[in-house]
Amino acid sequence: MKKKWKVGLIGCGAIADGNYMPEIKAMDNTQMVSVCDIIPDRAREFSKKYDVPEWYDHIDNMLAQTDIEILVNTTSIPAHYEINMKALEAGLHLYSQKPIASTAEEVTSMITAAEKNDVKISASPVHMLRPVVQEVKRIIAEGIIGKVSYVRAPCSHGGPEYFQFRDVNPSWFYGKEVGPLRDLGVHGLHMVTGVLGSARSVVSMSGISEKERTIRSGKHDGEKIRPQVDDNTLLLLNFGSGTFAFIDSTYCVKASRSSFTEIFGSKGTIVMHNSGENPLELFLDDRSRELRGWTNPMKNWGDFQQSSGVKDLITAVEKDRIPVLTAEQARHVIEIMNKAQQAARTGKEIKLNTAFSINR
Ligand SMILES: NC(=O)c1ccc[n+]([C@@H]2O[C@H](COP(=O)([O-])OP(=O)(O)OC[C@H]3O[C@@H](n4cnc5c(N)ncnc54)[C@H](O)[C@@H]3O)[C@@H](O)[C@H]2O)c1
Repeated sequence: MKKKWKVGLIGCGAIADGNYMPEIKAMDNTQMVSVCDIIPDRAREFSKKYDVPEWYDHIDNMLAQTDIEILVNTTSIPAHYEINMKALEAGLHLYSQKPIASTAEEVTSMITAAEKNDVKISASPVHMLRPVVQEVKRIIAEGIIGKVSYVRAPCSHGGPEYFQFRDVNPSWFYGKEVGPLRDLGVHGLHMVTGVLGSARSVVSMSGISEKERTIRSGKHDGEKIRPQVDDNTLLLLNFGSGTFAFIDSTYCVKASRSSFTEIFGSKGTIVMHNSGENPLELFLDDRSRELRGWTNPMKNWGDFQQSSGVKDLITAVEKDRIPVLTAEQARHVIEIMNKAQQAARTGKEIKLNTAFSINR
């Protein structure tokens, strides 16, 4: 009989409700044993709604009493590192929402704890598991668009208080440790580094554009937020050999018609859409065949969900391989985010010290 992995989830908020709980419950090799939230009512409601036997109001109580093998951490960003370390030290395999920690050094301590306790880490965001991203990596690796010069990755929306219906108070997104860079820019940074590899240096401009925000939905509708963190960050990465990437990471885009990643090479362009039937468009300039124009590669874009990182973690444990969403890439992205802030403050290009092996 197929093993059923015992899973616990901490952080019973929007993404857990919209994606992780229903998706993990539907997997045929998992058993959802416990849920936890610092707001006890949320944990109790989740345990009832999703028919989960145990609920807790603190990670320490959860770890002391529950018998799980995997922890899924979907708490708000400032809570990630402490919970992640506790889970790894308790010998649990870990899937964590992004960013998995605040500093590169914290991620190193997580990697050390995972090695010591013989457990694995799968680090959100989930882009490297998206079939379209795998295909983009193949196209680049086979030289189809030639030498990549430049990637443009927009990672902005109008702010969590504007963009999504929320019953949970979204003001934490505007706290010092969060902001659009750690909430949204992290996506583009994973995508760009996942395709091009480790970056060498970063420059950035960053500031607070809208001094006051008004919550637009849910229980906190009409309440005001005063951002403690930059809501408008633009950054450039240098990959060496004249290859650069530009990422905008803001809560200042109420609407846009260009929310896709574009990769520009010497023989063509790749356009990656976030959704839709044809997520990939390819422009090719093949002089030897007198061909120049756009094409839509036809593929089975496969079965992909927000919880694919949890699925991959389980497969990695069963096959004793490295999860696709590596902590080493997450560490590199966290270093970039911190150094981008330093670059914006000093007006200088800042060198990056971490690197990771690209998983082709
Ligand atoms: N909402 C989205 O569309 C979305 C998409 C992708 C990723 N994410 C990421 O998922 C995570 C959660 O986002 P969300 O939108 O669901 O936030 P949310 O505010 O709706 O939910 C977070 C939950 O975590 C709980 N929590 C906070 N600190 C805790 C602690 N120390 N112990 C236990 N519970 C704690 C809160 O009480 C809340 O219920 C974040 O890392 C976010 O960046 C969200």
